[in-house]
Amino acid sequence: MKDLIHQAADILAHAHRLVVLTGAGISKESGIPTFREAQQGLWAQQDPQRLATMQGFLANPTLVWDWYQFRLRLVEQAQPNPGHRAIAELEQRLPHVEVITQNVDGLHVQAGSRRVLELHGNIRRFKCLRGHGGLTMADLAGQEATPPLCPHPGCQALVRPGVVWFGENLDYRILNQAVADSEACDVMLIVGTSGVVQPAASLPYRAWNARARIIEVNPQPSELTDLAHVYLAGPAGVVLPQVLAVMSEQ
Ligand code: OAD
Repeated sequence: MKDLIHQAADILAHAHRLVVLTGAGISKESGIPTFREAQQGLWAQQDPQRLATMQGFLANPTLVWDWYQFRLRLVEQAQPNPGHRAIAELEQRLPHVEVITQNVDGLHVQAGSRRVLELHGNIRRFKCLRGHGGLTMADLAGQEATPPLCPHPGCQALVRPGVVWFGENLDYRILNQAVADSEACDVMLIVGTSGVVQPAASLPYRAWNARARIIEVNPQPSELTDLAHVYLAGPAGVVLPQVLAVMSEQ
C-alpha cells in the first residue's frame, strides 16, 4: 500500500489538469449513508422507484417529500471530512482542478473546493412541477402542506426536490462541462463511487480514452477499478490525507 500511495502522489504532483470524480463514498465518513452498500446503503433499505422517480413522487408526494427532508437534515448536520478537505487542498497545490460529484450534499463546496460540478443537483434546492427552480427552504417557510406549493405568483404547483431522479436527464450544461473536463484532463482521481449510474460512470472511460492516468480510492473494488492505473483500497478520509502528506514530502 505504501508504494501505491507514493505512485498516486507522484502522478498527482505532476498533473496539469486534474478531474476528481466523487460518489457517495466520499461523504460516508461525514455520516451520510451510501446507496448500494449491503445492509447500510439507502437502496438496500428503500425502493428507489418509490423515492427517486417522478412516478414515485406523483404516486405519493408526501412520502417522497418527507424522505428528502430526512436526508436534508442529515446533510445539514454533516461536516466535510478529511477526504473532502484533501480534495479542496489539491486545488491549492495543482494548476487546474475540477471536482465532478454525483453527491447532492454540497460538502465539497463546504470543504473549500471552488470548481465543483454537481451532476445530480443539490438537496438544498427545490423546484416546482411547472419548472420554477432555485427554491430554498427559506422560500417555502411557513407552509403547512407537504410538499409545499410553489410560491411564484399564480403558480401553486407541487414543489419537489431539485435533485436528478432516475429516468431524468442531467442539466445539459453541467453534463457537457463534465464531459469536456473529463476528455481534457491528464489525471482523473475517482473517489467513492460504485460506477454503475450513467452518465457519470462513463466519464472515466472518456478520460482513459484521452490517455489520462486514473487513480481510484475505494475500500471495495468498483465497476471502474479495471480502468485504474493505481487503485488505493481504503477509506477516502484516511487514504487521501496520506497521499497529500507524501506529496508534501516530495
Ligand atoms: P454507491 O452507493 O453506489 O457507491 C458508494 C461507493 O463508495 C461504493 O463503491 C463503496 O465501496 C464506496 N465507499 C464506501 N465507503 C467509502 C469511503 N469511506 N471512502 C471511499 N469510498 C467508500 O454511490 P454512488 O456511486 O455515488 O443518484 O451512486 C451513484 C448514484 O446512485 C447517486 O448519485 C444516486 C444513486 O442512486 C441519484 O440519486 C440520481
